[in-house]
Amino acid sequence: MRTEAEIKLRCLLHGADYNPEQWLDMPEVLEEDIRLMQQAGINCVSVGIFSWVSLEPAEGVYTFDWLDRVIDSLYENGIYTVLATPSGAKPGWMAKKYPEILRVEADRRRNLQGGRHNHCYTSPVYREKVTEMNTRLAKRYAHHPGVILWHVSNEIQGECHCPLCQAAFRSWLKEKYGTLEKLNKAYWTAFWSHTYTDWEEIESPAPHGETNVHGLVLDWRRFCTAQTVDFFRVETAPLRAENPDIPVTMNMMGFYDGIDYWQFLPELDIISWDSYPGWHNWDGCEAGNAIWNGAYCDAMRAMKRKPWLLMENSPSTTNWNGVSRHKRPGFHRLTAIQNLAHGSDSIQYFQWRQSRGSCEKFHSAVVSHNPSPETRIFREVAGVGEMLKKLKDIQGSTVPARAAILYDVQNGWAIGESKGPRNIGMGYLDLILRIYEGFWRRGIPVDLVNMDAPLEDYKLVAAPMLYMLRGDIARRLTAFVEQGGTLLASYFTGVVDETDLCYLGRTPAQGLTEVLGLWAEEIDGLWDHQRNGILLENPPQGMQNRYEASRLCEIVHTTTAEILGVYESDYYQGMPAVTVNRYGKGRAYYTGTFAEPGFYYDLLGKIAPEAGVSPALDTALPYGVTVGIRQKDTETYYFLQNFNQEPKTLELPFPLCDLETGETHTGSITLAGYGGMVCTRAKEGQA
Ligand code: GLA
Ligand code: ZN
Repeated sequence: MRTEAEIKLRCLLHGADYNPEQWLDMPEVLEEDIRLMQQAGINCVSVGIFSWVSLEPAEGVYTFDWLDRVIDSLYENGIYTVLATPSGAKPGWMAKKYPEILRVEADRRRNLQGGRHNHCYTSPVYREKVTEMNTRLAKRYAHHPGVILWHVSNEIQGECHCPLCQAAFRSWLKEKYGTLEKLNKAYWTAFWSHTYTDWEEIESPAPHGETNVHGLVLDWRRFCTAQTVDFFRVETAPLRAENPDIPVTMNMMGFYDGIDYWQFLPELDIISWDSYPGWHNWDGCEAGNAIWNGAYCDAMRAMKRKPWLLMENSPSTTNWNGVSRHKRPGFHRLTAIQNLAHGSDSIQYFQWRQSRGSCEKFHSAVVSHNPSPETRIFREVAGVGEMLKKLKDIQGSTVPARAAILYDVQNGWAIGESKGPRNIGMGYLDLILRIYEGFWRRGIPVDLVNMDAPLEDYKLVAAPMLYMLRGDIARRLTAFVEQGGTLLASYFTGVVDETDLCYLGRTPAQGLTEVLGLWAEEIDGLWDHQRNGILLENPPQGMQNRYEASRLCEIVHTTTAEILGVYESDYYQGMPAVTVNRYGKGRAYYTGTFAEPGFYYDLLGKIAPEAGVSPALDTALPYGVTVGIRQKDTETYYFLQNFNQEPKTLELPFPLCDLETGETHTGSITLAGYGGMVCTRAKEGQA
């Protein structure tokens, strides 16, 4: 059933973080904001983020009148409110009166008041204060016709090591393991005499204490995640109680792994994130950043396999990068098209109006210190507003991905803690992005999913560095291949269990040895300057004879797998580096080393068609160009994107109609430098 709020979201949202509380002594600013928002085609704004002290200037004293006025005038002028809870930053009076709410760092130092995300997720006082505030917000605004979405806190993050959190951690462990004996076994604590003899001996990891018991480190992160999810439930309970029809979201951060966002899924109605790639850090082609951004968009979309919301992006520059590069002219429009291509139903900014003081005064905003609609940023944002109106039909359409890459935050934690074979960087994310790049350059839609995701709808699954086998992933991958799926696995697979204990016997463990038709003996770490190579004696069509290999080289012995490529040098010269094994009705590919980007691109050229996975558009794409695809009912939308500074031409397999201009393109299409276009297949007679 559609909720009332989902119906309200039946257009593409164009919005921004809006902080009118910074301008309350200048009432003309609110009027000017509304006028400019209309001019820029803004139809929603996120209000109330970090506004606590303006809503409760002293304990029990509430000043909601300004917020009433803001939400009312926005609504009267056709602008919806995404209403935030203010818990991301607490007032100074609260910290002074209740010091227990202040966060304690890993070194056990209690922070002073300041910054944001400086609170304890366990503190009963903070939970009570949040409940009180959110109850008041919900009672006052949850039935306001202008309020469409709850934006809970802001970029939830971090961990607290205070005594309350330590006690909660111990209870969580007692619940998980029951006895200390079980915990000691799971953590292998006889090592270095780390055996716990009393629950009270257990402390969270600390730079001046325990960091060597990897099972403890993993469990601490799981506990922090669970505690944050629990706090999130405290935040949302009063909101849901008042009006369950207003959906709940939280804005996530690209590839942030301090907590495992995937554990929040049952608590979220709509997925959203804040996208800040370091655009233009190098001159020329922006493919690298586009790949990073596209990959996380695909993770967001795959969380619910539904459209998601781009909650923040910068209209031009950020203020926190080493150097603040402007988005080049026209580039903002291209980034908007990219986010839409990957399933976003919104383009929203940090921020609407540039603040006058403090640390974000030079972060770009739609309205700058000179509030003129003549600025380049304002004009480009208004241009995107126009475009979104013309593209409104794509709202609700979905991306038909038949391929997936496993990206699992908890596996990333375990790899990060592995200690050897490369303490200078195991490169889990690098490998994921390298494989992703192959898909992106071919314009093949792909989901990024964690180890809990169902795999049945996919034909091709890449599982890079599946080091820690969590849950029943090995069994499900086995079934996937057995039933005809294609698996692309790598080195460092099936090595440890969920508490980081190495599997005994042949690895990849839990049956993956049979699926891959090989077993791994050991893995060699290479320094950054060292190289090996992969040699393919009879390369399949589209592949080369040689690819460069670096970072890690695993030494394997095939049992049933066919060898496609071997190592070029070193004492394992001639041993298998790339293999394929037929298993059940499917195939399992394996790559033993970190190969150059072209390897994954070329390999996908062979295995994607073999697996029955198609690109969005069946045509050759120049480097830096990609095509996205979304579908709704009988309509298919194509998102052509050129991340090169120069124009690029594509041959078209069929005529396309530009949704913005109505123009039909037949034969070929030329995209401007940093240009993008959203098209449908031209109907009969349009060509
Ligand atoms: C994050 C935050 C915003 C703002 C921006 C600046 O995304 O959510 O409040 O600080 O960064 O880039
Ligand atoms: Zn705490």
